[in-house]
Amino acid sequence: MAKPSKWVERDKVKENVYWPNEEMKSRAWVHDASIYEEASKDPTAFWSRLAKEGLDWVEGWSEVYQAKPPHFKWFLGGKLNASYNCVDRHVNTWRRNKAAIIWVPEPLGEPVRTLTYMDLYREVNRMANTLRKLGVGKGDRVGIYLPMIPEVQVAMLACARIGAVHSVVFSAFSSASLKDRLLDAGAKLLITADGYYRRGKAINLKAQADAALKDTKVEKVILVKRLGLGVELEKSRDYWWHELRDEAEPYCSPEPMDSEDILFILYTSGTTGKPKGIIHETGGYLTQAYWTTRWIFDVHDDDLFWCTSDIGWVTGHTYNCYGPLSLGATMLIYEGAPDYPHYGRVWEIVEEHGVTILYTAPTMIRMLMKVDPDLPRKYDLTSLRLLGSVGEPINLEAWKWFFEVVGGGRCPIVDTWWQTETGGILISSLPGIGPIIPTVAGRSFPGTKHLILDEEGRPAPMGEEGYLVQIPPFAPGMLRGIWGDPKRYVDTYFSQFGPEYYFTGDGARMMEGEAFRIIGRLDDVLKVAGHRLSTAELENAIASHPKVAEAAVVGVPHEVKGEVPVAFVILKAGVEPTPELERELVKKVDEAIGPIARPERVVFVTDVPKTRSGKIMRRILRKLLRNEPLGDVTTLMNPEVVEELKSLVGYRGSRGASP
Ligand code: WTA
Repeated sequence: MAKPSKWVERDKVKENVYWPNEEMKSRAWVHDASIYEEASKDPTAFWSRLAKEGLDWVEGWSEVYQAKPPHFKWFLGGKLNASYNCVDRHVNTWRRNKAAIIWVPEPLGEPVRTLTYMDLYREVNRMANTLRKLGVGKGDRVGIYLPMIPEVQVAMLACARIGAVHSVVFSAFSSASLKDRLLDAGAKLLITADGYYRRGKAINLKAQADAALKDTKVEKVILVKRLGLGVELEKSRDYWWHELRDEAEPYCSPEPMDSEDILFILYTSGTTGKPKGIIHETGGYLTQAYWTTRWIFDVHDDDLFWCTSDIGWVTGHTYNCYGPLSLGATMLIYEGAPDYPHYGRVWEIVEEHGVTILYTAPTMIRMLMKVDPDLPRKYDLTSLRLLGSVGEPINLEAWKWFFEVVGGGRCPIVDTWWQTETGGILISSLPGIGPIIPTVAGRSFPGTKHLILDEEGRPAPMGEEGYLVQIPPFAPGMLRGIWGDPKRYVDTYFSQFGPEYYFTGDGARMMEGEAFRIIGRLDDVLKVAGHRLSTAELENAIASHPKVAEAAVVGVPHEVKGEVPVAFVILKAGVEPTPELERELVKKVDEAIGPIARPERVVFVTDVPKTRSGKIMRRILRKLLRNEPLGDVTTLMNPEVVEELKSLVGYRGSRGASP
């Protein structure tokens, strides 16, 4: 075996600082830091150049950027089609027979499926025609509730081809969450599957979908036969994917879409109980997806890119579909759980397929590190040349393990900060430029700018924690609104510091070299194992139990999952807390959201701390659970409850300080 290549070197002076070496620099798409200045001199001209170079347009734009803050548009008048950019244009080149998707099923005995760009082209065309035949037109919303099987990319691109708007719902979300999202989006068709495998268990997805459909506008359902469960079809509503596909015409002309036409809606959790339908349009989103994939992951034609995110999250949309496919790259997708049927599965897949770029979440890194820190050493991981992390801050210990044990000390790690709202990565280091520093995400992507503000909206001093905001021109891939709720767009992101500052909801620090260290959410959004959840949604789910008077949910740090929810529950008068009741409450959460949102702990209390106006003080609950100083509690409406809570949660105060 040849000695594996090394791509980084340690800083000569500073500890924990790495730089790309000559080999990396000569390979990387970008290796000259002057790109940052070039971009910041004229960001709109910069993005205009990228949009032109990266994508195929049917018609050029007449204006690059137009803004009436907080609203803005990119590439006005430009026309393009996302599926053409992800498929057709590769089929017209030598990439026609290149693998687009290598799909690894969960069951070990089942064969791996590879789809070339030509295969993808054929499937997308047929499915696009099928959708048209079933009455889906431009602007119509299509729900997609599929596991990680290649049909998911086909379905998304088929929608994009005819100008329909897809709304993918994570397959582990409950029927109730699917229903809410289908209703809110007004979807008229749903693409789902009979089921899928999760940790060896066959999950009946069709039953969940059926339960969600009642009272929605969904008229037709297309079912992928993944398991062959023998499910019942409802006549004139349900169709098998493979049957429709075989009947469909082989070519569907791609609809020329306006750059600002909607490509997809993706629901995400905010601070209220109602998920937000984040709107992404076509031209700007695709431009950012293309260039962030190319520059941050440094993807080349001979790479094999594996992003472990499920398609149901934005990371799956951008880095398991639009980014790599618009580049003509080869990506690997895996159906199953990373620890099934054994803890070495991820490493086994890397070894077997020669994955070169692995993009994952700190949760998975910590979980695999904890079960057996030496396990990756048993596999040949020398194909890896770049690693990536996303979704939550990565702690130093996990970073070091990922770097040393998984990457063999040879591979740069890109710690990529972004959000469902931003459409693509916005803060990260560029691996051909560096530096790579653990727990520091890096700089704003060229052509974008972020600042740290204090409470008053002034720039925070270097190194001090503050509010992370983005300033105009807003990145092309940024959300354009919230589906059906224009006011919420303004209120959520632009009310704190005004229309010229997009507020991310995150706290961060500006470090040396304009790099950012991300601290985490400042609002009531939780990141549990990297999954984005809202405390309000959990509270609503628990409070929907007839025996519950009120619930308050807060996140507490967790060694593997980063953060987990803890629920404080006040029962109605006369109701006794029992383990049985606790199970019922957990079931409520399963039903309303899904098992990923289960509280780690339920604490039955007589009351929770409240302000005089009756607002729950979650901050105090959080501090109680973290043994932090509570500060002045005398201004509460009910200070006496704090004493009760202290003994219930075993509060010890902060390192001897009197709370
Ligand atoms: C957090 C995921 C620290 C952050 C793409 C953000 C991160 C939220 C990082 C968005 C990172 C994402 N370091 N925190 N590299 N990346 N986050 O919408 O709190 O699921 O606001 O999008 O994840 O979560 P979302």
